[in-house]
Amino acid sequence: MNRKISIAIDGPAAAGKSTVAKIVAENLSYIYIDTGAMYRALTYKAIANNLDLEDEDSLVEMLLKTEIGLLPSDNGQIVLLDNLDVTNEIRTSEVTNLVSIPSKHLRVREEMVRRQQSFAKSGGVVMDGRDIGTHVLPNAEVKVFLLASVDERAERRHNENLQKGFPSDLEKLKEEIARRDKIDSEREVAPLKKAEDAIEIDTTSLTIPEVVDKIMALVHERIG
Ligand code: CDP
Ligand code: CDP
Repeated sequence: MNRKISIAIDGPAAAGKSTVAKIVAENLSYIYIDTGAMYRALTYKAIANNLDLEDEDSLVEMLLKTEIGLLPSDNGQIVLLDNLDVTNEIRTSEVTNLVSIPSKHLRVREEMVRRQQSFAKSGGVVMDGRDIGTHVLPNAEVKVFLLASVDERAERRHNENLQKGFPSDLEKLKEEIARRDKIDSEREVAPLKKAEDAIEIDTTSLTIPEVVDKIMALVHERIG
């Protein structure tokens, strides 16, 4: 049997990370871990508890007492926050627009990275986020950095919202995505950045199967 490797997929918001990561994991019978969901779950709980999202001490204190579970499901992943299913609640625009703030803090990230590394310790994992190739899995055998223009990414989210029956404002989405990318790329701790040894894929004019094929080709180069 082929050895099980780790695959890191990073990139800005709505570049297609989770969509392709899920398919790649399914193709290989690997586990899929959406690290953004963990930062979203923390943000959701912090908002519900009226915490100041700039206050690192209270966020860390709460996080240390918080269980975040990621369970595989047909649609990708169920997110459990202290054993409650919050899969949909963590995707609201309120959480989306605030999540980059708790994600800036060093000790929040240290605890998240510790948990992410423990999920990945047996290999056979596809993990997506912002700092997977640079910090969480620096030794991942395959590292991919997905890109697409802001216009294309906003359009994708817009279409996704329409399909779900929640029409959104395209211009506003564009601004929100650009603002979140800016905070994520400019923060001091583990900013959104391509790892030196990551392969960049510009997905602007690629379909989902085309992106998946490119990643599978990289995987097969490594595992034969
Ligand atoms: O799916 P989308 O690209 O909108 O975002 P996400 O992957 O769910 O991540 C939400 C936010 O969590 C990001 O904008 C980052 O602020 C933060 N995040 C992070 O800092 N590090 C990660 N490894 C994953 C997410
Ligand atoms: O995880 P991330 O925020 O990077 O993006 P996503 O949630 O996987 O993808 C955002 C949207 O773009 C989804 O609706 C995908 O179906 C769509 N997409 C696409 O249209 N073309 C691609 N090459 C990749 C994703």
